[in-house]
Amino acid sequence: MNLPAWPLPQVFDPLRWGSYAEGQRIAPTYVIGSPMSNLPKSELPQTMRQIRFARPGGPEVIALETAPLPVPGNGQVLVKVAFAGVNRPDCIQRTGAYPPPPGAPDIPGLEVAGTIVALGPECGDLALGGTVTALVAGGGYAEFCLVDAPLAMPVPEGLSLLDAAALPENVLTVYDNIITRGRLAKGETFLVHGGSSGIGSIAIQMAKAWGARVITSARGEEKGVFCRELGADVVIDYGSQDFVSAVLDATGKRGVDVILDMVGGDYIPRNLRCLALDGRLVQIAFLRGSKVEVDFRHLMVKRLTFTGSTLRPRTLDQKAAIVEAVKRDIWPLVVSGAIRPRIDTVFPLAKTREAHERMEASHHRGKIMLDLGA
Ligand SMILES: NC(=O)c1ccc[n+]([C@@H]2O[C@H](COP(=O)([O-])OP(=O)(O)OC[C@H]3O[C@@H](n4cnc5c(N)ncnc54)[C@H](OP(=O)(O)O)[C@@H]3O)[C@@H](O)[C@H]2O)c1
Repeated sequence: MNLPAWPLPQVFDPLRWGSYAEGQRIAPTYVIGSPMSNLPKSELPQTMRQIRFARPGGPEVIALETAPLPVPGNGQVLVKVAFAGVNRPDCIQRTGAYPPPPGAPDIPGLEVAGTIVALGPECGDLALGGTVTALVAGGGYAEFCLVDAPLAMPVPEGLSLLDAAALPENVLTVYDNIITRGRLAKGETFLVHGGSSGIGSIAIQMAKAWGARVITSARGEEKGVFCRELGADVVIDYGSQDFVSAVLDATGKRGVDVILDMVGGDYIPRNLRCLALDGRLVQIAFLRGSKVEVDFRHLMVKRLTFTGSTLRPRTLDQKAAIVEAVKRDIWPLVVSGAIRPRIDTVFPLAKTREAHERMEASHHRGKIMLDLGA
């Protein structure tokens, strides 16, 4: 029997063996762990390198270890990871303040891109050898990662695996919060704090592509230039300017329609002052804390909506619905080049500690990535 060129899982199920011709993308399906004998020897390694946090703490608790490959269950595929994104929530998880939701692996990493090397049962159209980018609830900082089939997205045409791996966490978060929750509409004005962050750099591009006028806050000249290059119409250096008066100046005192905020703390009452009538404030993090004194009369008088969300603990069905919306509304904008991830730095897995240190020093512009092949 001819075997496909790509790596094989340890065991395959001949009942699921489809027709195969070399070079074909649609390949036989394998089920790891089925008790078969007399089967081809696996080309997959027995073990993989992965990152684990030895205990809650600083970057020094990041440990590189060797572990067996995970086994795909029903509706899951095993992806040989090419690149994984580093996100601020990974750093917060490392400190112990953001534990993985029940059922998620304690290996960090929320997004990957790579090649499917094994399939569990019921994975729809996904095929061995296919390349995907995916949202995961954990497990991305590893050479092999389990992906729920509904959260695997095709790599947009013309995009490298590195760029593709930089998209899921930020694009899905931004879409769900500014388009769905924030109801951003063409012609409206949008403010995002932290415009040079992974989230901010996608939010600027997505809001521009959606037809909004974009205002952002960022610290320092270099980050300001970066945000302008991404398409921001107005950049406020929050280190030297009061963002409330800068926003009111930039909007003729009207205020903005939607704010995406990750800062919280004293930004909450100030955000309420920056919103126009019927404005929406969407909270996705609280870098400056979540307890603050607020005058809520703004909410009533201006008919504001104050909302927020987290992506990671949502159900598979809820995440799959966001994935479908993103494939429909955003993937074409990625293919056209209107939205592109900006890669700040790429670290080999063995240098994950340096990747976290760079993120926490906050010198980065755009995405910090891990190269699992290095
Ligand atoms: N709710 C969700 O589902 C969800 C999902 C993903 C991420 N998040 C959150 O979104 C945030 C961004 O994530 P990320 O991965 O993109 O991290 P990141 O790149 O480290 O972004 C954090 C950004 O916040 C900026 N910042 C800090 N203080 C600020 C202030 N006072 N005013 C304006 N900007 C400020 C930082 O820039 P400077 O240091 O230069 O100011 C940096 O650009 C994180 O807090 C993360 O936890 C939430």
